[in-house]
Amino acid sequence: MGQVPHYMIIGNGRVARHFCHYLSLLKIPFSHWHRPDPPARLKPLLRDATHVLALINDQAIDPFITEHLQASPAIKVHFSGALVSQMAYGAHPLMTFNTGFYTLDKYQSIPFVVDTTAPDFTTLLPGLPNHHVKLAPELKAKYHAMCVLSGNFSCLLWQKFFSALESEFHLPAKTGYTYLRQQTENLLTDYVSAFTGPLARGDVATIQKNLAALKCYPFQQIYQSFVNLKEKIS
Ligand SMILES: NC(=O)c1ccc[n+]([C@@H]2O[C@H](COP(=O)([O-])OP(=O)(O)OC[C@H]3O[C@@H](n4cnc5c(N)ncnc54)[C@H](OP(=O)(O)O)[C@@H]3O)[C@@H](O)[C@H]2O)c1
Repeated sequence: MGQVPHYMIIGNGRVARHFCHYLSLLKIPFSHWHRPDPPARLKPLLRDATHVLALINDQAIDPFITEHLQASPAIKVHFSGALVSQMAYGAHPLMTFNTGFYTLDKYQSIPFVVDTTAPDFTTLLPGLPNHHVKLAPELKAKYHAMCVLSGNFSCLLWQKFFSALESEFHLPAKTGYTYLRQQTENLLTDYVSAFTGPLARGDVATIQKNLAALKCYPFQQIYQSFVNLKEKIS
């Protein structure tokens, strides 16, 4: 029988709090340390740890390991999608984490994108039933840029849409929910055919009208850059 894992989570930001919650739901024992805790508390906690998850800012991960974790034989893991570290294995949960917790089912459905240099998943993150795929470290920068473009930047566009519905058109934000849901469903059903609208139709007159309506808004530049992009990729 293998060793019973004991996780130690470092950090108390969005991801660290979510993973403390997930481990609790899975009834996997863990300890937790974050910056306001006395550094002297780290050493005794580390003695029991088989796995240390450094769930802190990307730039802080290697310096933190150098300063505090080098003597520990525990397996060190970080969750950054962009960082390639010689000190910790990367396992990126392909998900967005905000302040509210998720259900056990949702946590279990999160795929992990794991460095090809990492040990097998049951050694890396024992007890986690999640699906995982492997990615070469040299591809991480581009992979993460794609995650940011699709997930984070589209969020900015939807935020702008919902706030404009409320503040400029005096309509409830929820008027747009069905549109968002269907756009998401269409992407999930067949992402290749999901793109519609004047750019998909080549409707130049409507595109010009849209651009004119956005004059003086920073979003005009975003619209124009999508027009340029579409020309390049068509
Ligand atoms: N949020 C997401 O959706 C998401 C998704 C996938 C992966 N990730 C990855 O998960 C990791 C954590 O991201 P997050 O969103 O949870 O960030 P976050 O909410 O901004 O939290 C960052 C945490 O790092 C701590 N920290 C920063 N510098 C530190 C240092 N020098 N020493 C010790 N602790 C330090 C902060 O402590 P203080 O509170 O004391 O400042 C805070 O607890 C990152 O590697 C990120 O790339 C995030």
